[in-house]
Amino acid sequence: MSAVTLQDIVKRFGSFTAVHRTTLEIPEGAFVTLLGPSGCGKTTNLRMIAGLLDPSEGEILIGGKRVNDVPIHKRNLGLVFQNYALFPHKTVAENVAFGLKYRDVPKSEIPAKVQAALELVQLPNVGDRYPKELSGGQQQRIALARAIVIEPDVLLLDEPLSALDANLREDMRVELKRIQERIGVTTVFVTHDQSEALAMSDLIVVMSEGRVEQVGKPEEVYNTPASEFVANFLGASNITEAKCIEHGASVVVEDATFGRVTVPAAKAPNLTGQGPAKLVVRAEKLLLSKTQASEGVISVPATVETVDYQGQAVRYFVRAGEAQLQAINMIDERPFAAGDAVHLHLRPQDCAALPG
Ligand SMILES: Nc1ncnc2c1ncn2[C@@H]1O[C@H](COP(=O)(O)OP(=O)(O)O)[C@@H](O)[C@H]1O
Ligand SMILES: [Mg+2]
Repeated sequence: MSAVTLQDIVKRFGSFTAVHRTTLEIPEGAFVTLLGPSGCGKTTNLRMIAGLLDPSEGEILIGGKRVNDVPIHKRNLGLVFQNYALFPHKTVAENVAFGLKYRDVPKSEIPAKVQAALELVQLPNVGDRYPKELSGGQQQRIALARAIVIEPDVLLLDEPLSALDANLREDMRVELKRIQERIGVTTVFVTHDQSEALAMSDLIVVMSEGRVEQVGKPEEVYNTPASEFVANFLGASNITEAKCIEHGASVVVEDATFGRVTVPAAKAPNLTGQGPAKLVVRAEKLLLSKTQASEGVISVPATVETVDYQGQAVRYFVRAGEAQLQAINMIDERPFAAGDAVHLHLRPQDCAALPG
C-alpha cells in the first residue's frame, strides 16, 4: 500500500492552475523527491499533502485513508521547510519537545524522546542551548529533530538544505538520507537541485509547469528520460532532430551528426515506430579524442569552440558539421584548447531516443 496518494489532484489559484490533474503514489518507507524548476508546483503539492492548502479537485490519501477534511495537526506529519524557523526564546530541547506537547505523550517520557531525537541528528549535547547559539546547519538538524520526534507517518521536507552553503549542504544530504534510512519514515522531499535528487532519492518525480513529466528511480530518469524536458533538466544533454528508420528487435535512429545509431530499445520506450524522433546524447557520454574510435564506437570529427574548465572535469562546446554540441569530460592531463581538431567518440548503447 502506498503511504501517500494524490488522486486526480488539481490546484487552482483563481484562474491560474498551479497543479494540473496529478495522480501520484508515494510508497511506504520510500524517499521520494519532487524535482523541478522554481514555480512548477512542488511546494503546492507538498502543502496539499500537509493540509496547509485544500486541493481544488481530487483526493489525498494518507495510509489509505482520505484526509481532505482532516486538519494538519491530526495528520501526524513531520514538516521541515526552508524557513521553518525554530522558536528563538525556547531552548533546543524545548523546541524539539514542542511537537509532543499537543500529543498524548506522558510528560515523563518527553525528555527521553527529545534526547533520542537529538542523538539521531548527532547533536546530543545542545539541549540547553538557544537556537542562535547554533550554526545554520545545526539549526536545520534541530528542525529535523523536532519533525521526527513525534514519529510521523510521513516526513515532508521543502528545500530544507537550500539555505546552507554548498559544502555543508552536501554533508547534510548524506546525513539526512542516513537518518531517513535509519527510522524508515516515508519522506517527500522537495528540491530544484538535480544532484540532490539523484543522490538521495529512491524515486524522483520530475515536474514541469504543474505536471508530472516522469516518475522513476534516479538512474531511470537520468538514463532514460521520458521527455526533452527531463533530458535537459537532469544533467546536460545534446538533443538532435533525428528519424527512426528501424523499429523492431533493434531501434535505429539516424541524424545529421552521428549517422545511424542503434539505440537500446529500453532507452527508447516512448518511441512507437518509424518516423520523426530525437536523439539524446548525454554531455558526459561524448568523449573528445585525438584518435579515431575503435570498432563499434561512433567517431565524428569536430572542432573545439569553447573550453569551460571545471577542475577535475571540462565542459567543451564543439562544432561537428552543422551541430554545436557540448561534452563534459574528466581530464587527467591537459585539456583540449579552442581551435583543436578532435574526434567525438560515442557508444551507441549510451544514446537514448524520444519521439520527434
Ligand atoms: N497562494 C498562491 N496564490 C497564487 N499563486 C500561487 C500561490 N502559491 C503558489 N502560487 C503559484 O503557483 C505556482 C507553483 O508554485 P509553487 O508550488 O510554490 O512552486 P515551486 O515550489 O515548484 O517553486 C507558481 O506559479 C506560484 O506563483
Ligand atoms: Mg517551492
